[in-house]
Order: sequence, then C-alpha cells, then structure tokens
Amino acid sequence: TPREDAAERACSTTYSEKSLYHRSVLPPTSTEHRKYIICLWVNFELPDCTIKGLTNNQLEEIGCQIILGNTYHLALRPGAELIDDLGGLHKFMNWKRALLTDSGGFQMVSLLHLADITEQGVTFQSPVDAKPMLLTPEESIQIQNKIGADIIMALDDVVKTTITGPRIEEAMYRTLRWIDRCIAVTIFVIFHVISWAHSRTAHKRPDEQNLFGIVQGGLDPVLRVNAILIKAIISRDICVRGMVDRNLPGYAIGGLSGGEDKDSFWRVVAQCTAALPEDKPRYVMGVGYPLDIVVCSALGADMYDCVYPTRTARFGTALIPEGLLKLKNQAMANDERPIDPTCLCMVCKNYTRAYLHCIVTKDPMGSQLVSYHNLSYMMRLSKDLHTSIVEGRFPEYGDFIFLIICLYRV
Ligand code: GUN
Ligand code: ZN
Repeated sequence: TPREDAAERACSTTYSEKSLYHRSVLPPTSTEHRKYIICLWVNFELPDCTIKGLTNNQLEEIGCQIILGNTYHLALRPGAELIDDLGGLHKFMNWKRALLTDSGGFQMVSLLHLADITEQGVTFQSPVDAKPMLLTPEESIQIQNKIGADIIMALDDVVKTTITGPRIEEAMYRTLRWIDRCIAVTIFVIFHVISWAHSRTAHKRPDEQNLFGIVQGGLDPVLRVNAILIKAIISRDICVRGMVDRNLPGYAIGGLSGGEDKDSFWRVVAQCTAALPEDKPRYVMGVGYPLDIVVCSALGADMYDCVYPTRTARFGTALIPEGLLKLKNQAMANDERPIDPTCLCMVCKNYTRAYLHCIVTKDPMGSQLVSYHNLSYMMRLSKDLHTSIVEGRFPEYGDFIFLIICLYRV
C-alpha cells in the first residue's frame, strides 16, 4: 500500500532511523521500570540552532540524546521555508540524534511583552519589521513539520504562574481547543504524506513526528485554600484528563518554571503525573535545577529542558555534587583541582579551577568549557537517576541525592 511504501522508504533514510517510534529515544514502555520512575533525558537550551558554545560532537560525547529548538526562533531565523528547502533541521545543523521543537506560544509570551492571545492564536509584533503577526495552532504545527523535529509541541495558551482567577480557566480550555486544532492539522498532513508519498523528501515525516500535548491550568493550592485557588486544581485536572483522552504519544506539564514556590510546583507535577499514562513520556517544560530534576523524577516525570546549566556557566558558575562552584571567587585563583574531582568529563580531565578562574567570563572558551562540564554533570545526574530506577534502587539513590542537594541548596 502507499502507506507501507512511504514507511519503508522513509525508514531507509538516515533521519527516520532517528524517529522516536523506531528507536529507543522514547522510554521503555514496560511499566516494570516505572515501578519508581523513568528519568530519561535532560535536554538543554537552544537559542537559534546551537547549544550555546558547544559543538554537536561535544554534545554527543557527553551523552546528549535530544536537543530542543524553538519554533519561534527558528521561524524568524533562518526561517521554516529555508530549513525545509535545506532538508530539515537535522540535516541543516547536522544533528543525528533526536530533536524536539517547542510550539512558539510560550516564547512569544515570555520574550515579547506585546504578545496578545486570542482564540485564533498568538498575535505578536515581529521583531524584524514590527508588523503584527499571528501564530495559530495550525501554523505552529505546519512550521514544526517543516523543521522536521522528532517531537513537536502543541501550541498552548500560557499564563504567568502568578496569575489567579478566571484567566487560568480560560487558558486551560483554550489549550484544549487548540490541541484539537493541532491534531486536526496533523491528521491532514499525514493524509497528505500518504497520498503524495512519492514526492516526499527524507526529512518530511509528519506521520513520524510525535505531537505532545501540554497540560496547563494554574498552580495547586493545597496550602492556600480559597475559592480562586481551588479552581486552579480543578482546571489542571480537567486539562490533564482532556489531554489523556486525546491519546497522544507524550505529554508535557507546562506553566511552571515561572518562579513559583517549589511546593506548589512539585504539587502540580505530582497531580499531573498521577493522571498521565505510565507508558508515555512526561515532560516538565523549562525545568530545571538539579534538585527539581531529582524531585520531579521521583514524582514520575521523564523529560526536562532548561537553559540553566549553560546560562549559569556563562556567569562563571559550575555545578558540582556539593552545590555550586563560583569560579570567579578569588579562592579559585590558585586552586589546582579540576572543577569536580569525581567528574570524568573532558574539562575536568584537562583544566584546573585556577585556569578556568582566569578565563571564565573573559574568553568565550571559558564559558564553553564550563558549559561542557555543567551539561556533563546534568547528563550524569539524569543517567544515574535512570540507572538507579532500572536497577530498582531509586529510593535510596534519590534520597541520597535529594539530601545532598538540599544540604547544599543548589
Ligand atoms: N516552556 C516552559 N514552560 C512552557 C509552557 O508552559 N508551554 C510551552 N509551550 N513551553 C514552555
Ligand atoms: Zn567535569
């Protein structure tokens, strides 16, 4: 059948091998490993098409399995059409592992104060020519189809975590209506691919792109019970159930990472993971710090993305098991130890704290080296978490790390 033809042809291409359904990028579906949780990847930063300062080889070296790109940034520069013409983002940036793209709504809301959300979509002022532009759920998906990532995110209506009242409910219901528009356009694109399989280029595999839905709905209020906040619980619940009903390949928990207190944030994660299917990945967006990753993994989350390891590196801070190492401190000036004597990364094998102290915020190589170490640290943390889960010793391992991190307040 044309469908099988299309699948066969696509499977013989480089990038489709990377597609999630055909490899082990998605967590094992065995619920046995889920006895505690599966902590799988930590994926970091991507302003345009790079993890700031690191090469693809370096990212592979430190075990990074997947990186995240933003629809918003990529659509502005270099543009979805160009990426499409040049064979998709994998080929364009020569990244052979998995890619995830965020839908764009969050970036516009968080980066551009002028963004305005209506039922149609997100209207924002173009930073290129200041003209008003509209990003609809359909367009977001179409752009993400052109970019060709393995995981694509539905356009969501994101509200600040500090907001209370009816806007939370409005955003939640709109996010549910928008997921249906995203699904509808995905189905249309798949149909299109099937009917035109012969003219499809290798990277265009929308039928292999995994559309994740994003759960919105405010913060859990248990500690501050009043009428408005109780609504927030209910709206998270409605949203999570709505998303589960749509039987998507994976789910994200959104609307966090906005500076809310940890207690509310962790409660929302717990509330959502309790309702999300065990055999699908659960992705906490925009998170986080090492402590958050340990806690959220204990609560049943699998995926994270955060600029923290690279951003903090640029300010001269290295992540170590005991907490944070401020490389700019005068005490580092004659310290001959590596950043972390227990770390096996290239930076810790080759450079002293004293050298890094000298260059860290002065030369791009300084922030690159510290970013390399910080990402290695996060990859090791998530890998160790994952291994401890698979080997059935997460509770002890989790407690230990949790304690260390709490003690040192990372
Ligand atoms: N990144 C961090 N939080 C969010 C969110 O709530 N939605 C989207 N789309 N991206 C995010
Ligand atoms: Zn290191």
